[in-house]
Amino acid sequence: MTIQKHFPYVDNNMFAENVALSDIAKQVGTPFYCYSNTAIKQNYQDYQQAFSDQDTLICYAVKANGNQAVLSTLAKLGSGADVVSMGEILRARAAGIPAEKIVYSGVAKTGEEIAYALNEGIFQFNVESEPEVELISQIATKLNKTAAISFRINPDVCANTHAKISTGKSENKFGVPISKARLAYKQAAALPNIKVQGVDVHIGSQLTQLAPFEEAYQRIAQLVVDLREDGHDISVIDIGGGLGITYRDENIPSKQAYAAVAKAQLGHLNCKIVIEPGRSLLGNAGILVTGVVFVKTGEERQFLILDAGMNDLIRPSMYEAYHEVLAVKKVSTALKTYDIVGPVCETGDTFAKARQINESTSGDLLAIMSCGAYGAVMASTYNTRMLAPEVMVKGSEFAIVRQRPTYEAVINADSVPNWL
Ligand code: LLP
Repeated sequence: MTIQKHFPYVDNNMFAENVALSDIAKQVGTPFYCYSNTAIKQNYQDYQQAFSDQDTLICYAVKANGNQAVLSTLAKLGSGADVVSMGEILRARAAGIPAEKIVYSGVAKTGEEIAYALNEGIFQFNVESEPEVELISQIATKLNKTAAISFRINPDVCANTHAKISTGKSENKFGVPISKARLAYKQAAALPNIKVQGVDVHIGSQLTQLAPFEEAYQRIAQLVVDLREDGHDISVIDIGGGLGITYRDENIPSKQAYAAVAKAQLGHLNCKIVIEPGRSLLGNAGILVTGVVFVKTGEERQFLILDAGMNDLIRPSMYEAYHEVLAVKKVSTALKTYDIVGPVCETGDTFAKARQINESTSGDLLAIMSCGAYGAVMASTYNTRMLAPEVMVKGSEFAIVRQRPTYEAVINADSVPNWL
């Protein structure tokens, strides 16, 4: 059982830093997401420290959790941002992340988005295809701007992670195949208003081993040598995100060990290293607190039915992801086996099957652990359930950093045509 440092038990009551989760629940209602500001900072500083002997720009992957309070925390620490949409650029800029620390990834950037990013003056576009670089060139020419680019290279490496979040195999939609890279760079360099500046790679998410990174970086290093031989001025290597976290019992390599792999494979090339971590900054800095609505005894099993569902946290249904579920108040030490499910009308709305946790009854609070990344951002209002509010804790203080929307606001977002 991995009890996370910033969500400790004090006298059998779970806290977020120095605040009792039951106190937050009284004020905010359940379900709610709760983030530890200290945990986010610590995770960021661990990266900073691990990469301190390399010229590095940390670009937090906004997709993991785009809350303004999260982004502001990271902006104040000096973080840049890896974004995948105009919306994420707006979010990052609103939180005070300077444009010159923004890298823009994503397979389908539209003309409007490209123009916006050029006008903002971002650090670089991570280009995913030949047609994309042509479009960037056209728009940059029209705007009289120069677009700094890296191609995202698909190195054809197996990341040993869930198929839905593996991105670096040749069958995946991402990037330019490494075999076609030299030609792509040659064509791009000949386009007007394009400045070729680097190489980018991201092979997947929730990686639990260093070997796939090592293999990918080795291939990238050789490519940088080849590209320089072809006359390109390569000064940036974006090594992507992807270092995993412990959800259950995964033994994750340290950030130092990860940095050492980057240095060993790429250090001799004297490039600026960009890293795009998401999950490893936020994942274990957040939890979802939920109430038990009913305990139901089925024919073969007992169900704990929660007020949080797959619309709040989709990872278990979407990726068969394991999230630890802990009692917020441990009243008894007796363990019981439950299927832990949500209220949504789908069998897939299941957080855990045959899970042993402290015996629980209706009205109890539970904490679903490790959901700071890819939790709130993937939530929906399916079943017309309101998005769970988000709370941030720092020491003994807490604040709601996104309110629970009202039913009225959600329903009024629709409109009925007058010809109906
Ligand atoms: N850079 C790029 C280009 C990415 O596509 C991603 C994640 C990252 C960085 C950040 O990767 P991280 O450090 O978080 O592993 N929703 C899924 C994860 C999707 C990851 C998508 N790309 C989940 O809940 O597991």
